[in-house]
Amino acid sequence: MLMVIPVELVGKIALVTGAGRGIGRAIAVALAKKGANVAVNYAHSEKKALETVELCRSYGVDAIAVKADVSNREEAKGMVEEVINHFGRIDILVNNAGILGNALKPMDVTDEEWDAVLGVNLKGAFIVTQEVLRYMKRGKIVNIASIAGKDGGTVGPHYAASKGGLIALTFNLARHLAPNILVNAVAPGPVDTELINPEIKERLRSLSLTEKIAKPEEIAHAVIFLLENDHITGEVVDVNGGRLMD
Ligand SMILES: NC(=O)c1ccc[n+]([C@@H]2O[C@H](COP(=O)([O-])OP(=O)(O)OC[C@H]3O[C@@H](n4cnc5c(N)ncnc54)[C@H](OP(=O)(O)O)[C@@H]3O)[C@@H](O)[C@H]2O)c1
Repeated sequence: MLMVIPVELVGKIALVTGAGRGIGRAIAVALAKKGANVAVNYAHSEKKALETVELCRSYGVDAIAVKADVSNREEAKGMVEEVINHFGRIDILVNNAGILGNALKPMDVTDEEWDAVLGVNLKGAFIVTQEVLRYMKRGKIVNIASIAGKDGGTVGPHYAASKGGLIALTFNLARHLAPNILVNAVAPGPVDTELINPEIKERLRSLSLTEKIAKPEEIAHAVIFLLENDHITGEVVDVNGGRLMD
């Protein structure tokens, strides 16, 4: 049979967590542009999630908003059931939802903040994956990690640990779920979203060889690249303007 590259995304069903704004919205819209139907998860930003849904629908695909705190098992389960009830299946999962936490220095991280950051960024990605795997027999999963998960970053230790854990989880799931489900990660450097305090954006800009911070669409582009390929699994794609070259 003739192999078609890139793999067609038209008609696929995608669940993107944390897709009301920022990188998640850019991923949802990029998927819709490719003809995929999108479930837009949000935890708090309902208005923004509905805007993302409208943006997706403007490309002629079906899209719905689904509310759930991804760190909560019952809510994650309910979200996946809602998506299955509406679309009938899930072909693509993008674990994008994430929080940074406030603390930057090790001694400033409280137990509560550790649990909250690890709860969303790592446990959340895992439990949403588990709930999706009840239904997904073939498909693709992309986890949005971070440069902090590889080099420690300039962020709090809890955030870096959560993203390092997410990269290890990506490798582990890739081994367990092959050959029918491919699992990869994208590890962005700083991206121009609400996650980053505007005051430090200028400093972060100077750290990359491209002398800029990424646009959310540049991260979405890497996600689409992984989804359009049937022979990449257990990979982490860096999108950081050359920051890891030294
Ligand atoms: N921006 C960067 O520089 C950068 C760099 C590397 C990696 N990343 C990663 O990229 C991902 C997206 O970040 P972003 O920059 O787009 O940040 P953002 O603009 O702050 O968006 C974060 C998203 O995560 C969602 N979210 C937070 N807690 C959630 C929960 N408990 N359940 C469900 N959704 C939740 C938010 O939804 P609600 O508003 O509804 O809560 C929001 O849509 C994160 O995993 C982040 O760690 C970002």
